[in-house]
Amino acid sequence: MAEVLHAFVILIFLPGGTSKITNKESCGSMFEVQVGHALVGHVLETFVVVDEFECQQKCMANKSCKSFNVLPDADFTKRICQLNNKTRQTKPGDFMKTKASSYYGSIKISCFDISHNKKTQTSTGYCYPARQGKSCLPKAEKSCKEIKNFGKSQGDGMDWLDPDGGNHSNAFLAYCDMTSYKGGWTMCYSTDEYAKPKSEVAYSTQFPYGKDGYRTNCNNIPFSEIIFIDHQTGNKAYFKRRSPFSLTAASNYNKPASTYGLWDGDGVNKNYSYQLLICDLYFYSGFFVSGYTNCFKRCDHWCGDIITPYFRTASTSTYYKGVAFNINGHYVVKNRLISVGLR
Ligand SMILES: *[C@@H]1O[C@H](CO)[C@@H](O)[C@H](O)[C@H]1NC(C)=O
Ligand SMILES: *[C@@H]1O[C@H](CO)[C@@H](O)[C@H](O)[C@H]1NC(C)=O
Ligand SMILES: *[C@@H]1O[C@H](CO)[C@@H](O)[C@H](O)[C@H]1NC(C)=O
Ligand SMILES: *[C@@H]1O[C@H](CO)[C@@H](O)[C@H](O)[C@H]1NC(C)=O
Repeated sequence: MAEVLHAFVILIFLPGGTSKITNKESCGSMFEVQVGHALVGHVLETFVVVDEFECQQKCMANKSCKSFNVLPDADFTKRICQLNNKTRQTKPGDFMKTKASSYYGSIKISCFDISHNKKTQTSTGYCYPARQGKSCLPKAEKSCKEIKNFGKSQGDGMDWLDPDGGNHSNAFLAYCDMTSYKGGWTMCYSTDEYAKPKSEVAYSTQFPYGKDGYRTNCNNIPFSEIIFIDHQTGNKAYFKRRSPFSLTAASNYNKPASTYGLWDGDGVNKNYSYQLLICDLYFYSGFFVSGYTNCFKRCDHWCGDIITPYFRTASTSTYYKGVAFNINGHYVVKNRLISVGLR
């Protein structure tokens, strides 16, 4: 990621920082500037300043300051300086396009970033592929659940995953939800309409929003639980397979729900047992959970179930458009932004 950043950000060396980048032996911090952006919701302190250099000094004076936003003041002669206690790397979902403001964040750079030797601890936010955790230790875990179980969680945010292990050249970025229902969720996609998990590749680092919503490749994430998040209300629900065996999407597309048996829900009407479909059909694609009414569904046969809660993205059929979160979805429903994750 740092390589990408270098391509489009201005870098300012911190004056008086603990160290400076002078040769291969030393490491230090840099500030990156992102014009037209701000990190929202993590403001530690606000000041009125003359310019961004004064704001930078305020930030450097406070150990809790990890980044800052500079905004124009009402009369445009002064600036508003917001010190943040998080960075865009640790809170990618809160990094927003905002007119007239600029975001200044520190990227901790080791000398080896410069020499492109990735064997060393790197940034505070992203790590290189196959590096992970606070110190970017070598080894990408198979899922966010493993990162959590191995005690390498840095909280919610992007991490590198490599479900097939071995050579990490095919590691990819995924958003790990480390807080909902005790965390460990590999988030697969966010969408307000269609999803096609079989062919998703990692492409947005902003969860749940990106250009087209956040996406990653969940095909080989082993799971026995699935979470749905409704971003309009913040409501969440998750489902746990009664059988203790985990499965992967890759080997299960378009199988009948009877393949996995019944699931129990949390955050949803517990009077029902639930069932899972993993679909990649023209008619419907995406993960789909709904109640069980003495009938296991198929990706293109929903048992005429017009009563139980559905969790699904949009069907291409005009009869089942929209996105259902905890409402019956055997109808056209409204579009809404939801996310789906596995653990
Ligand atoms: C960061 O600042 C927010 C206020 O914007 C505060 O609620 C939160 O506790 C702070 N977190 C830390 C770790 O200091
Ligand atoms: C940093 O800012 C916070 C919030 O205003 C304040 O509580 C803390 O004392 C400051 N720390 C330093 C070292 O100035
Ligand atoms: C990993 O795989 C890539 C692509 O197949 C290959 O170019 C690279 O040499 C491999 N690395 C190792 C250490 O095997
Ligand atoms: C579950 O069933 C019980 C007993 O029939 C009923 O009282 C309750 O309202 C039901 N809960 C929901 C959320 O439908």
